Amino acid sequence: MENKNDLFAHKSKSWDMNSKRVQNAKGIADLIVNNIKLNKSMELMDLGAGTGLLSYFVAPYISKIVAVDNSPSMLLEFENKCDEFSCETEVIEKDLSTDTLDRKFDGVISSMTIHHLEDIPLLLSKLYNMLNKDGFIALADLDSEDGNFHSDNTGVFHYGFDRKKLALYAEEAGFKDVSFSLASTINKPHAQFTVFLMTAVK
Ligand SMILES: C[S@@+](CC[C@H](N)C(=O)[O-])C[C@H]1O[C@@H](n2cnc3c(N)ncnc32)[C@H](O)[C@@H]1O
Repeated sequence: MENKNDLFAHKSKSWDMNSKRVQNAKGIADLIVNNIKLNKSMELMDLGAGTGLLSYFVAPYISKIVAVDNSPSMLLEFENKCDEFSCETEVIEKDLSTDTLDRKFDGVISSMTIHHLEDIPLLLSKLYNMLNKDGFIALADLDSEDGNFHSDNTGVFHYGFDRKKLALYAEEAGFKDVSFSLASTINKPHAQFTVFLMTAVK
């Protein structure tokens, strides 16, 4: 039976077939790999990992990726391609807006997920507590937009983000060295949208 709470159930099977989506994830991953010192002993969490587009491109540089997501259907797609990842993988079904995860990571990466979480200060403080000493976050999402990025805004709590406001939230959660880069540009027929990567360390 279809899980009505799984907002991505109708998209999960075809998620990876959208080449713009794959290109966006690759752009974010390239920026992460080029700007953060990754190594083969690191265990990272991919927040809202979905089918694993971002994880896949970061996998060759780390030891293990832990895919955390509240959508069983997206995680099923992730699991179906586990063999293609160049690192160890683990999947955890969890809603990080309501739950916490009693685990520590060397870093948290994320692509196009945080606009689905309403309370960003709370999320950032949860992530801070889930990091080992000197751990990092590398979170990519849309710059402020007019609400036209998604054709259906169900489950969307933020029409992109104002970088200054997000930096402030990160600093208030305890993060240092907060910085932003342009990760990619997504061209849609009606408009162009930019995606930032925010990095910071514990
Ligand atoms: C737009 S998709 C991005 C998926 C993937 N990161 C990518 O770039 O292809 C957002 C993902 O965040 C997940 N998500 C949304 N809200 C969440 C929450 N509260 N806790 C955990 N995952 C969540 C969704 O299930 C979905 O897989």
